[in-house]
Order: sequence, then C-alpha cells, then structure tokens
Amino acid sequence: MSGIGDQFQSQTKYHRDRMPGGGMDFASQPELYKSYPDADIVDLPFVKDPGGLDLYDALRKRRSVRRFAERAIALNQLAWLLWASTGITRTEDGWAFRSAPSAGALYPIETYLCVNRVEGMGPGLYHYSIPNHKLEMLTKGVFGDQVAAAALDQQMCNQCDVVFVWSAVFARSKWKYKQRAYRYVYMDAGHIAENLALAATSIGLAGCHIAALYDDQANALFDLDGIHESVIYMTVIGKPA
Ligand SMILES: Cc1cc2nc3c(=O)[nH]c(=O)nc-3n(C[C@H](O)[C@H](O)[C@H](O)COP(=O)(O)O)c2cc1C
Repeated sequence: MSGIGDQFQSQTKYHRDRMPGGGMDFASQPELYKSYPDADIVDLPFVKDPGGLDLYDALRKRRSVRRFAERAIALNQLAWLLWASTGITRTEDGWAFRSAPSAGALYPIETYLCVNRVEGMGPGLYHYSIPNHKLEMLTKGVFGDQVAAAALDQQMCNQCDVVFVWSAVFARSKWKYKQRAYRYVYMDAGHIAENLALAATSIGLAGCHIAALYDDQANALFDLDGIHESVIYMTVIGKPA
C-alpha cells in the first residue's frame, strides 16, 4: 500500500529525461533572515576558542542525555552553541555562509530558544538573529512546561537549561527546489542539530534531539502558522546529571 510518504518520495524524484523546469526568479526570492525589530536584544559574545575536547573525543563522547544537573550554563557557552550550530563563518561575493551546510545555501531553518536557566539572561522564548549574532526576546517567562507538553510531555524540556527549537521556512527552499525542498529542509535541520550536539559535548554539556512533537502546540508557542513556517525539530541542552 502506498501512503503519503511513499507518494512524496516517488513524486519528488529527479529523472534525467524530465527534470522540473522553472528556474529561479531572483525578484521573488524569499528573505533569508527573519527579524523581530521591536524585540529586546541580548548581546552575545563571539567565542573563538571555547577550549574543550578535540573532534575525535567529541565524536566518541557524544550521546543522548535526558537528565540534567540544576546548574545554569553561562551566556558565553550559549553563544558558542548558537554560533557553532548555525552561525556565519564566511562571506563570499556578498553571500554569507554558515557553520552547517544548506541545500542551495538557502538556509530555511530558523533557531528559537526556550531558555530555562542561562546566566545573565532571564527565562523566556527567544529568536536567534543569525546576521547580528544576537538574541531577540519574544516572550519573557518560564515556558519549559509548555515546551515539554508540546514535545509529547518529554520532561527533559523543562529540566534542561535551554531548548533549541528549529523551524523551517519552507518557501526559502521551495523557491528553487519546489516540492523536492521538503527533502532538503529536514537534512538542513539535522546538520545544524548535530553541529550543536558536538559543540555541546566539546564543552562538557550534553543534550538530546527531539522530533516527537505535537506540531500545532509547538507552533503556537512561537506564533507560527505551521504551513509557511513550522517547528520541525528540537534539542535540549544542559549539564549532564
Ligand atoms: C531525528 C531524531 C529524533 C529523535 N527524537 C527523540 C525524541 O523525541 N525523544 C528522545 O528521547 N530521543 C530522541 N532522539 C534520540 C535518539 O533516541 C538517540 O539518538 C538514539 O537512541 C541513539 O542514541 P545516542 O544519541 O545516545 O547515540 C531522536 C534522535 C533523532 C536523530
């Protein structure tokens, strides 16, 4: 029997003799960055060398951790994790490239945070402004319980220090790849999340990726419509218990 996933996989194949046409209309390219101009800003340091494990040890030691010590991470640790997962690493001919690869360099993934405990900033929901390497505060308050509820009641979301919440702005990738874009946005999120996992491991932190979500509930927390932009993935981060 063929379900919607089987149909999607089949109907988004590339065939040498019948590639989708269309091309790219630069006049209608969606914005690469989302911004909240009225939000209060949290400045983040640029952490060039956080110390810690080398790549071999980080790869060897990374594992999913779901229980955390009740100890806040430092703001410079959070800044390192944000940059390492999806920060800007280089600019070529005016185009900014990031620490994680992205199909067509179209960068459909937005990063939000649910901060439970981070030194130097209050709990709340935040958005990472990638071009400015700053956080934009969306809503002040304690949201760990609500994020846990949106993640099929996985309590690690309120016990950790911070939840990274990734959404996809599908139009950025669909602009070039049409329906095949839905293959790529999930890969992009995976690259970003694993950058985060390795960066966290390298500085003695740990976490767990989460794809088990009540989509509508997760989207409502960040005021996303679930069609043009939808939460697709999360990672909890903290100091292992
Ligand atoms: C796409 C994806 C989704 C996941 N979703 C969850 C989840 O919702 N809850 C959870 O406890 N672990 C989740 N995990 C973590 C896996 O269970 C874990 O990576 C796996 O058991 C292997 O263990 P390790 O990460 O320690 O190597 C997810 C991992 C991936 C890659």
